[in-house]
Amino acid sequence: MITKKPLNIGMVGYSFMGRAHSNAFKQVGQFFDLPYRPVLKAACARNASAVQAFADQWGYDSVETDWRKLVARPDIDIIDIAAPNDMHHDIAIAAAEAGKMVMCEKPLGRTAKESLAMTEAVERAGVRNMVWYNYRRVPAVTLAKQWVDEGKFGRIFHYRAKFLQDWTMSTDLPQGGTGLWRLDASVAGSGVTGDLLAHCIDTAMWLNGPIAEVTAVTETFIKERKHQLTGEVQPVTIDDASLFLARFANGSLATFEATRYARGHKALYTLELNGQNASVFWDLHDLHRLQLFDHGDAGISRGWRSIHITDGDHPYMKNWWVPGLQIGYEHSFTHQVADFLGSLDSDTPAAPTFREARATDLVTDAVLASAKSRQWEQVMG
Ligand SMILES: NC(=O)c1ccc[n+]([C@@H]2O[C@H](COP(=O)([O-])OP(=O)(O)OC[C@H]3O[C@@H](n4cnc5c(N)ncnc54)[C@H](O)[C@@H]3O)[C@@H](O)[C@H]2O)c1
Repeated sequence: MITKKPLNIGMVGYSFMGRAHSNAFKQVGQFFDLPYRPVLKAACARNASAVQAFADQWGYDSVETDWRKLVARPDIDIIDIAAPNDMHHDIAIAAAEAGKMVMCEKPLGRTAKESLAMTEAVERAGVRNMVWYNYRRVPAVTLAKQWVDEGKFGRIFHYRAKFLQDWTMSTDLPQGGTGLWRLDASVAGSGVTGDLLAHCIDTAMWLNGPIAEVTAVTETFIKERKHQLTGEVQPVTIDDASLFLARFANGSLATFEATRYARGHKALYTLELNGQNASVFWDLHDLHRLQLFDHGDAGISRGWRSIHITDGDHPYMKNWWVPGLQIGYEHSFTHQVADFLGSLDSDTPAAPTFREARATDLVTDAVLASAKSRQWEQVMG
């Protein structure tokens, strides 16, 4: 029997992403043949009984209520940050300084200044690091990237991305605190720009290269909300909606839109890329499909086709079921863990590293600056 080296995970946060990551760590070894075996060693959050209940349900060996204690534990190999955005900077830097590998949720920092310090810390410590931009690992999106790399689209002219939700439309919704930290700019950094557009920007630059400049408009539709923690009515300082135009370094043009005020839309992430030879469209609500138009097809049958990304030769799919049976959202996280663990013995780290993910924070900083200045803003390198 080949022994797989155990790697002890210290998870910070037990809610949406804490569950998504824990599921990925538990599932990965069953479906992917990897040299390492993740062990759910410790879960950390401030509420002792809640984190204990999470640990019991998911099979963590132990709990901590102070992330500093978790980071200091000699039996932890990887610190995984699934906590709100204001926690990323301090935990990642402390973890790197303690010699731990660091996996961090997106956006890496609340600002590119924060993410620079985090990037420098992991690089100085020489520890492996990765940011959970999981949409890269939806097999359909990964296939689109393979096609870009193969030159299938030819010269790329346009990129179009939207991420639409509607969950903050009620004026009665408080801001801040459990479940609602995304509405508090001091915790989240920004509104939909850092939350939703960050995903769109990461995928866009992965597929189509760096973004050179942007011009943006943002809006805060509901100006005041009660703060959940203080009970006081306070100004809302996040962007509720954020739209921008972009010019990529390769000369192509893009539109990006994100909002939490698109009635009826819950998590509609769509992207489209138009090249000289072909176009591709993807929709998170139908995540196992790619729409492809290939101008090279014979004229009589040329048209948009919908490809079901479930065959064994599609990215990641040979590890799952039989052709025709689709997988879901959670598998993108499992693929990310598989790539991370699979990369540890090679010189090529799994992407996106902190440095690669920081490129998104540079774009979101430029978007927010442009919304303020009402000018085109260059994306800083
Ligand atoms: N990759 C994705 O698709 C995706 C999706 C959702 C969220 N996220 C990111 O994941 C992160 C977490 O988001 P979420 O939706 O899971 O948030 P959440 O509110 O559901 O969970 C946050 C967790 O952090 C814990 N926490 C808060 N303060 C803490 C502290 N001081 N010490 C320890 N634990 C603490 C809370 O107990 C909670 O379990 C954010 O950075 C968010 O942007 C990414």
